[in-house]
Order: sequence, then structure tokens, then C-alpha cells
Amino acid sequence: MRSIILTITLVIIAFNSFSINDLHSFARPKEAVITHLSLSIAVDMDKQIISGVAKYNIEKSANATQIWFDTKQLNIEKVLLNENEKTNFQLSPERPFLGRGLSVNITPVTKTVSIYYSTTKESAALQWLTPEQTEGKTAPFLFTQGQAILTRTWIPIQDSPGIRISWDAKVKVPPTLLPVMSAQNPKQKNETGEYSFRMVEPVPAYLIALAVGDLHFITLSERTGVYAESDMVGKASDELMEMEQMLISAEKLYGTYQWGRYDVIVLPPSFPFGGMENPRLTFATPTIIAGDRSLISLVAHELAHSWSGNLVTNATWDDFWLNEGFTVYFERRIMESISGKEYADMLAVLGYQDLLETIADLGDTSSATKLKLNLKDKDPDDGMSDIAYEKGYFFLQYLESKLGRTFFDLFLNEYFKTYAFKTITTEEFLGFLNKKFAGKLDPSQIDEWIYKPGLPTTLNKPVSVRFDLVDQELKRFVEQYTKADKLTTKNWSTHEWIRFIRKLPANLPAGKMNELDNTFSFTQSRNAEIQFAWFMQAIQHDYAKADNAIISFLSSVGRRKFVLPLYKALFANSRTAQLAKDTYIKLKPGYHSVTQQSVDEVFSMK
Ligand code: BES
Ligand code: ZN
Repeated sequence: MRSIILTITLVIIAFNSFSINDLHSFARPKEAVITHLSLSIAVDMDKQIISGVAKYNIEKSANATQIWFDTKQLNIEKVLLNENEKTNFQLSPERPFLGRGLSVNITPVTKTVSIYYSTTKESAALQWLTPEQTEGKTAPFLFTQGQAILTRTWIPIQDSPGIRISWDAKVKVPPTLLPVMSAQNPKQKNETGEYSFRMVEPVPAYLIALAVGDLHFITLSERTGVYAESDMVGKASDELMEMEQMLISAEKLYGTYQWGRYDVIVLPPSFPFGGMENPRLTFATPTIIAGDRSLISLVAHELAHSWSGNLVTNATWDDFWLNEGFTVYFERRIMESISGKEYADMLAVLGYQDLLETIADLGDTSSATKLKLNLKDKDPDDGMSDIAYEKGYFFLQYLESKLGRTFFDLFLNEYFKTYAFKTITTEEFLGFLNKKFAGKLDPSQIDEWIYKPGLPTTLNKPVSVRFDLVDQELKRFVEQYTKADKLTTKNWSTHEWIRFIRKLPANLPAGKMNELDNTFSFTQSRNAEIQFAWFMQAIQHDYAKADNAIISFLSSVGRRKFVLPLYKALFANSRTAQLAKDTYIKLKPGYHSVTQQSVDEVFSMK
């Protein structure tokens, strides 16, 4: 009797928490779901293969006869039940971007499923770097990128953000290298090359990550630190000195940090993103190491994901704005508390400009500009744009302005507590909001924000006093013929320079571009954000003097946010179109698959 009641209860729990259908996973969690992963792998840096076994503890409904996993670009060798019983498995036909479902026959007594597998040359999550492609040039490097649906290309898994597991891993690497994961990490190498990792909190598959290289660690505070190759780690630790301060500010805003340590690994320049919020260990691009700490809001962003995203997770990729919109809002609140309101205002105004450009780009009636997405039959990676980030941010800013900051902060604290280690849909969020603030919010306005395309009528346009001064100087230069060296630019931060460059008029004459460059050396800048903003203008203004610097930038940085728009712009300009294509063909092998996939489209190479 007891066991019948227990079974019924389990089935009800499983049914309730997996009632949402994730269109980007083959898993059928209502039938059988993974609860814990024990990964045991060897990393062969020469053959560029990971091989080993993924053993899962599972929970199943009473009559389940199969369990479904996601796989892509993997070799599945064999599957064992309860560690020693052979069982049959089938791989479904390959589906575009989803890969192949793996169904494993199970029995009423199945407790664990062990999948023996190896990765392939195609495994898209993995980027293997030769020593020449790294900073130090002496040791090879490997890193993984799981979000959105790439973890299945290096671990057979139920790869849905709605399914959370605890996990542990045993990883064997060449003894000269150090592996680190989104988990409890070693700080230094040992002679055996064998390391153990543990993540006791349940996380979705997209947050499992691994990096292997000649890594060194520098402690920043008791619970923060930085990993990088030896040539980078010193610079990185200077740049990221304020991490503990950020952590304290974040906790003051929205509650205790739940993950123990917070470290950052600064990866080689081909990392396709600015940052990735892998739990306990943010993966970051070296392009944030500007030398003056001016680009560290990116770390505030990834840290903020420790609440929005990692603690409270979007249930499906259609709800992606719940991850990113909340995180941008939280990021700007952290920056406001450590660098002041004027600083955060600059970030909001730059974000607003990004939002306007994205909406103009996609078209203001396009459904891709809605907060709630519909990614059915789409690669989630293609459907994710600045909309989730900036429209999401401005929605939360709108709520703050309607409800008052004090009440909104209390609400967010409760939100993170209520949904900690859970997943949530947009509709559940709206239900929660409505329960707390019934009668205080206008449902038709909320509906416009979430379900309508384009720019909402109730958006509060951000203003920045520091940018007003920049705009004044720009006006003097463009309209009043003030010489560039007579402009008041003393003490301008990176953001003020970005504002200045982005606002240059489309018809600025070549002579003026030249004058700016001679005065401020934009083409020679070492700050990736300034370089990017200037290079975009250089291409639009056909300022050929920057050509070499642009090509050299493209050959040293693989971050998609920079590389993709640069190739697009170069290709759209008839003078540089051929150069763009030749350059890409030459440099493509050095980019991560994520960047390759996006840039391929520019040149119709897919
Ligand atoms: N989680 C994202 C990166 C991501 C999103 C990877 C979607 C794959 C699919 C990360 O937190 C992020 O947003 N990174 C931004 C930086 C941020 C400051 C806006 C980036 O990489 O540019
Ligand atoms: Zn993010």
C-alpha cells in the first residue's frame, strides 16, 4: 500500500513539473527523467576526442518502458542498465539542429542508465585549439559551450532547460594541463592528470561546461578568483579586482549567493561569446580585459545570472527573456550600486540604441521582436536577439517605475526565493506578478510588452547626462566646425567614446573621419568595444585606412557579436566584399562553430 501511494505521488510530482513541452528536446520527462549524472571521461587533446561514460540516475512513471535522451554528433557505443545489464537502444533519424533522439529500453527495476560514447570532429559544443591559437602558444586548449542546445553534442543527455540534475565528473587530461568545470574546481595541476568535480545543486544541461588548458589561478578574495593562461592571468586579475564588491552588491539586492565560489575563466580570443554564466565559473572573452576595468559590466551580467537563469531558469527557449531581460536589469542595478547612477544610465542608453537598431533590423511587426518567442521548428540560436535582453530590461524598468523601486525589489527577492532551483514559463511569471500586484498594473500594457511586436508605447526612454555632454561635443565637431583636438573629451570613459563614435553622422566627410582618427587614434585602439564601434563606422564611411586593422581584428577575435556585423558590413560594401569573403575563408577554421554558423549565412555558405 505504502509503495502504491509513493508511486502515485511520484507520478503526480513528475507530471506537474514536466507539463511544459520543450520543442527542442527529444526527452519525455513525464515518462522517465534523469536526476543525477556521473560523468567519467578522458580528454584526448591530440586526437581531439572526448570519450567515456555518462551514467544517469533516473526516475520513471510506473509503466515506462523507455527513456529518451538528446544526442548530436556523438558516437554511442553501448548502453548498460544498473551498470551491468546490456540493453537495446535506438537512435532516431537526424533532425536539423536537434540531432538524434536516443531511446533506451528500460525495465521496472532500472535505477541507472550508463551510456558509453565518444565525441566526433563535428561536435559543435567543442572548440579544440592548437597551441598556436592560444595566448601562450605552447599548449593546446579545449572549451565547451552548451547554451542553447549544444551540450548534447558532447554529452548524451536530456538537454532541456526544464530538466535539472545534480552531477559529478571524473576527467582525465594530459598531466601538463588543468581541467576546470562549472562545479567545484581544482586550483592547481597534479601529476596524474585525473580530477574530480561535483555540482550538488540541480542545474539544467546547458550549464554543464568544461575547459582544459595550461591554466593558472589567482585568488581575488576568499570566494572569488580568476583562471587563465599564464600570459593573461595577471592582467585578468587586475581587471577583475572588483568581483567581490559586485558579489556583495548583488547579494544586497536580491539575496544570498547560492553557489559557493564565484570564479571567472578568461578564455582564448576565439570564445564566441562575451561571457557565459556557467555556475561557479563564468567563461569570458579576453576582449573584456581592456586595461582600465571599463568593460567589467559584462562580469556583473554573468554574475547576475547566478540568480536570473541559473537559480530561476527559463522553462523553454521561448521564455529566454526571463533569463536575459532579468539579467540585464540586475546587471545595471549592480553597476549602479558600484559605479553610480550616471554610469548605469550610460549602459541603459547604449542598450536603448541597440534595441532600436534590432527592431529596425527585424521589422517592427516581426514576431521575432516579441518578448515571448515562438521558436517552433527554429534553431533557438537563430531566434535569440537583443530583444530578450533590452526589451526585457525595459519591461522590468517599466514595472519598477510603476510599482516603485522598494516594492519592486521586494518582489524580485521573493521571486528568486520562490522559484530557486526551479524553471519558470512567461505565463507563470505573469501569474506570480499578478498575484502580488493585482489592480496595480494595467493588463493591456503588460500584454503589449510580452505578446506584441515592436517598441511598447509605455517604454520609458532612458537619458544620460554624461551622454548629453558627448552629444554637445559631437555637434560642435559636425555642425560648428570645431577642430577635433579642440573638443572637450578629457576624462571620457570607454562608454562616452562609444557614444561619440556610434553617433557619427552617415554623411561625415572622409576628411573628418581622418581628422578624428589622427586626433584620437581610434584605428589603433586596444579596447575591443571602441575598435568595434569605430570599425563599423570606418566600413560605412568607406574609410580605407582602417582596412588592415579590421582584418587583423577579425583574425585575432572570434566573438560573434563583433565578427558577424563586421563581415556583414564589409560584404555589403562593394569595395570590400571580395576582401571580406577571402578573409573569412582563410580565418573560418579558427572560429568556434557558433560563430562559423552565423557568418556562413552572410556568405550563403550553408
Ligand atoms: N547566456 C548568454 C550567452 C548566450 C546566450 C549563449 C544565448 C548562447 C545562447 C550570456 O549571459 C550573455 O548574454 N553574454 C553576452 C554579454 C552580456 C553582457 C550581454 C555576450 O556574450 O555578448
Ligand atoms: Zn546573459
